[in-house]
Amino acid sequence: MRLGVNIDHVATLRQARYPAGPGAPFAEPSPVDAALEALAGGAHGITAHLREDRRHIQDRDIAELREQVPLPLNFEMGNAPEIVAIALRTKPASACLVPEKRAEVTTEGGLAVRAGRAGLAETVKALQGEGVRVSMFIDPLPEEIEASAELGAEMVELHTGSYANAVAEAERAEHAGRLAQGAELAHRAGLQVNAGHGLTTRNLPGLAGVPHLEELNIGHHLIARSVAIGLRAAVAEMLEAMAVTWCGEE
Ligand code: PXP
Repeated sequence: MRLGVNIDHVATLRQARYPAGPGAPFAEPSPVDAALEALAGGAHGITAHLREDRRHIQDRDIAELREQVPLPLNFEMGNAPEIVAIALRTKPASACLVPEKRAEVTTEGGLAVRAGRAGLAETVKALQGEGVRVSMFIDPLPEEIEASAELGAEMVELHTGSYANAVAEAERAEHAGRLAQGAELAHRAGLQVNAGHGLTTRNLPGLAGVPHLEELNIGHHLIARSVAIGLRAAVAEMLEAMAVTWCGEE
């Protein structure tokens, strides 16, 4: 199973002090340096979300990550014409389509693929025309999985946020069960199954029963943990937790 490291929060920290972004003299920390640290820790890919409001990752970050980091770039994006145009120019290895609201702190809920099919079809086709593999960030609902397959997406990323946020054990187990069913259904529909949002080394073990997972995309916990032990070690720690959870390796 692969680990994609979301480095948005590195840019969040930089923007807090240097709102002019990566071009500002003395700007730090650098998302590229963070991505290279993630690589040294064993990461298999880097995810960055270029939001319309540019609150963290900037256009120049995307170009630099693409040019300077020898890992597949997963371009997380809302379906907005300006962002789609940048994705088409950048030609990342993959693009993950997400819903995006300006007022949200982080991505809330999955993409409404079925309801938004008409608007998404052209974007999926355009991205694939540039050799970009497309993922849909969705809640583990049968209708959204089916709609993603019908649109021709190669992958779905199952939204693990509700699972991660559940405090009561029974509620958490219920969400894990829904994720397992969703993963089964997506796999049967021929989709690569990824997952992400809110995952930590503590809550990972509860997902041991979710089959067919090929990639996890994790950001906040890894960057938070890196404050104490560094990103390289945080990534290695997560890879070990993944191996223990799904392969029983100690
Ligand atoms: N996957 C998607 C589609 C996301 O929007 C995010 C948050 O940016 C993540 C994964 C990573 O979530 P977290 O930062 O909670 O690990």
